[in-house]
Amino acid sequence: MDVLVQNIGMVEFNKNQVFSYKADTLSGHIKVPGDKSISHRALMFGALAVGETIISNLLEGEDVLHTAEAMRQMGAKITHGSDGLWRVFGVGVGGLKEPDGVLEMGNSGTSTRLLIGLVGGHPITATFTGDASLTKRPMNRVIKPLEMMGATFMAQDGGRLPLTVKGADNPLAIEYTLPVASAQVKSAVLLAGLNARGQTTVIEKHATRDHTENMLRHFGVEVITEDLNDGAKAIHLTGHQNLEPCAVDVPADPSSAAFPVVATLINEGSDLTISRVGINPTRIGLYTTLKDMGADIEFENQRIEAGEPIADIRVKGTSSLRGINVPEDRIPSMIDEFPILCVAASMANGTTKMTGLAELRVKESDRLLMMAKGLHACGVDLEMGEDSLIIHGKGKPCKGGACVETALDHRIAMSFLILGSITDEAVSVDDASPIATSFPNFIELMNEAGLNITSEQSDDITNFG
Ligand code: S3P
Repeated sequence: MDVLVQNIGMVEFNKNQVFSYKADTLSGHIKVPGDKSISHRALMFGALAVGETIISNLLEGEDVLHTAEAMRQMGAKITHGSDGLWRVFGVGVGGLKEPDGVLEMGNSGTSTRLLIGLVGGHPITATFTGDASLTKRPMNRVIKPLEMMGATFMAQDGGRLPLTVKGADNPLAIEYTLPVASAQVKSAVLLAGLNARGQTTVIEKHATRDHTENMLRHFGVEVITEDLNDGAKAIHLTGHQNLEPCAVDVPADPSSAAFPVVATLINEGSDLTISRVGINPTRIGLYTTLKDMGADIEFENQRIEAGEPIADIRVKGTSSLRGINVPEDRIPSMIDEFPILCVAASMANGTTKMTGLAELRVKESDRLLMMAKGLHACGVDLEMGEDSLIIHGKGKPCKGGACVETALDHRIAMSFLILGSITDEAVSVDDASPIATSFPNFIELMNEAGLNITSEQSDDITNFG
């Protein structure tokens, strides 16, 4: 396999640069912010229910705040009380109003694709735009099924933002087989289907996160999931059902918990518990993979809350992770966790092979390339292919000592700050500001647990780039 990593150079220093120095061991109990996927959906579904929906533990990250603002622009009343609770007074399915201004989506692909689905199923027109990362991401994957339902679009070349959608007056219920494993596309079609007469069906060959289905049920909507052959599923939704306002207590995000989990794992002698984390089977592929690599991870106090399985995750540090082949059928359940898995793999004994990763190229950044470039700069031996990454771990920390480019990608930034906790020389990221999209208190929380992340460059360690 070819090594395609090139042009690794010094990244210019800027005010958003943050450094990660060797850590102490991590210990104690921490709580990471609310689940991003569930937070978006709680706001959207609250806005579609008539009456008051009360949300606790909402992720107050930039991505979710963009969803809240968009729902306000489309007529929902949303308040954030001094008690920390979010209250949404919805307008009912079919009741969204045309927004006056452009819908600013920032960095958030989930807000964009799900809201394009919602607008596509309402007789309103809306224009979506976003930051330099989001405006590069493909939207044809939602445009195509929504056109079949009667929506019309004007978009930049390749179906990119800025994009205007004119929703269907009478959306058609369709049956749609997902061409890529994507919960965002599944959700966009189901959300448009909420306002269609008749039954909308989405068929997925590989199970993707099912928070839309679970939460619609929590709001009193009948959604039927049918198991087909070979793990495929059909999700059926009959339109024009009412959403009942309710209370939603958002679990902590397993994708955010992944960062302290791996930080603990690679720092021998650590012992950390992360409380009340969502362990929906469609989200925990990373945890299964880490256990396959020899990690000591326990799901304690398992319970179900608001239709979602929850546990306290206890993890202990080790010096003996081993490289493995990551099964391709596990990818949808760990799609956001590959950057941090690469950090664990860099420390493992032996080779970790990750294949079937084409989707990583169209996330907040080209994650395959950004991880390969950053790890290579930190001294990790790896091979990158079109849709694969092979990491040859040496069973000990890599050198580090690089300033890594993050390309507006929160998970790239957090992954390299975790890597810096074990490397011989500090690791820095050129821009830590995107972390606020999903994990606003990441640096404080990780430092409380034992990490050593700072915007100050230490005099001792000057070997960057
Ligand atoms: C999400 C689905 C996934 C994931 C994203 C959140 C969701 O995207 O990567 O962070 O909330 O539905 P895809 O649907 O593109 O796989």
